[in-house]
Amino acid sequence: MARACFTFPSSFLFGTATAGYQVEGGSLNTDFWQWEHKPGRIAADERSGPACDWWHGQRWREDFDRAAADGHTALRMSVEWSRIEPEPGRWDEDALDHYRQMVVGLRQRGLTPLVTLHHFVNPLWTVSDGRHIWEDGSGTEPFARYARKVVEALGSHVDLWATINEPNVYYYNGWMSGAFPPGDRPSIGRAMQVARNLLLAHAAAYHAIHDVQPHALVGLPIHFRPTLPAHPGFMLDEWVARTQFELFSSLFNDAIRTGRLRRPFGTSLAVPEARGTLDYFGLNYYTADLVRFDPTSFAELFGRRSFPAGAEVDDAGWYASYPPGMFSALTWAHKQHLPIYITENGIGDAEDRMRPRYLIEHLRQIWRGVNFNWDVRGYFHWSLVDNFEWERGWTHRFGLYALDRVSQIRTPRRSAELYAAICRRRALDSDMVADFAPELLERLFPG
Ligand code: BGC
Repeated sequence: MARACFTFPSSFLFGTATAGYQVEGGSLNTDFWQWEHKPGRIAADERSGPACDWWHGQRWREDFDRAAADGHTALRMSVEWSRIEPEPGRWDEDALDHYRQMVVGLRQRGLTPLVTLHHFVNPLWTVSDGRHIWEDGSGTEPFARYARKVVEALGSHVDLWATINEPNVYYYNGWMSGAFPPGDRPSIGRAMQVARNLLLAHAAAYHAIHDVQPHALVGLPIHFRPTLPAHPGFMLDEWVARTQFELFSSLFNDAIRTGRLRRPFGTSLAVPEARGTLDYFGLNYYTADLVRFDPTSFAELFGRRSFPAGAEVDDAGWYASYPPGMFSALTWAHKQHLPIYITENGIGDAEDRMRPRYLIEHLRQIWRGVNFNWDVRGYFHWSLVDNFEWERGWTHRFGLYALDRVSQIRTPRRSAELYAAICRRRALDSDMVADFAPELLERLFPG
């Protein structure tokens, strides 16, 4: 008999999240496909290949069965623009039908769909002949037209949408760090123009979606990464931590609130069109950073990042588990006065050595917000099955289920069982903690 539990409201959604390119396989008609096929771009020169075989092999069906059998009540997926509109103005009705079957498949299994329209990847026609829609600003109208088409096709089954996934990661990786295409022309000025163009496209899509479906809830999931000064009180560390936060975590929401996009060193760009174009805050939280001032680190705006002391680091040294960061992210999100969905949270951990702990501790932090009656409406764990992790290829395994890429066999990790228990009970209880992470028992359930 469980001693105590942290219970979530009956309307709270428990699900997983993924993105089309990362699971479908064979997304040939995209900029990322071309990019990943150049040597040296992806860890160990791996390729997405058939990924989780959700497109040709239709293995989404069995994965949705798994999610439903595990008691999940929602699933976040994305549709691929390149499949739906392979050439400008030509709609592929078969592709739309494929996605229609998927969202109907979710509903039939009792899973609420959250559908993302753009998750890091562009159709080739949007980036050809030396031009790039997000650089030259020509993306707004086509993106809104595409959003309208998707909502007309899927809107009878979906009313929870995300326009552009993590515009802050996308503009940073594509135009600053070079981890994503186009990757070859880093410039802060260009990156800020891209950020503005993404915002304008989001705003236009927001209105297009509402034209078709007035009751839709539309969001813009943000990769929220709290930055803590390495030496609190030391002015330069405080400045770097604040600047990085403003140019990454809060940039897009600040712009939507104020109509101005902040640029480095106190200037800003006007984006009045973006004001008020959000119905919920989509929070993607994985990790937090300690930041110290370093005059040699120009690319990171004079900051040097490390993980908070004692935080447990994942397989790739990419993220560290820092559960208080989830609560500070929620505290910030709550002040936006919008409903909140945690649209991503997870850890790359092939052996499942830290995921059960990670899951429990992060859900416990979310529960604190729920317990304050903050409007937190759902949690989407990243991810159901290991999927293609962009520049990290297959070296970083986020799935509740492990994927054998050759046989396509999925094997549940222990965390799948833990998450199923949480979803079924809509609560985190002391028995689960005793079974899956006994080292946390006394701290979470003292006495
Ligand atoms: C992205 C996902 C990615 C995940 C884990 C997020 O930033 O939205 O596409 O796979 O992080 O790395």
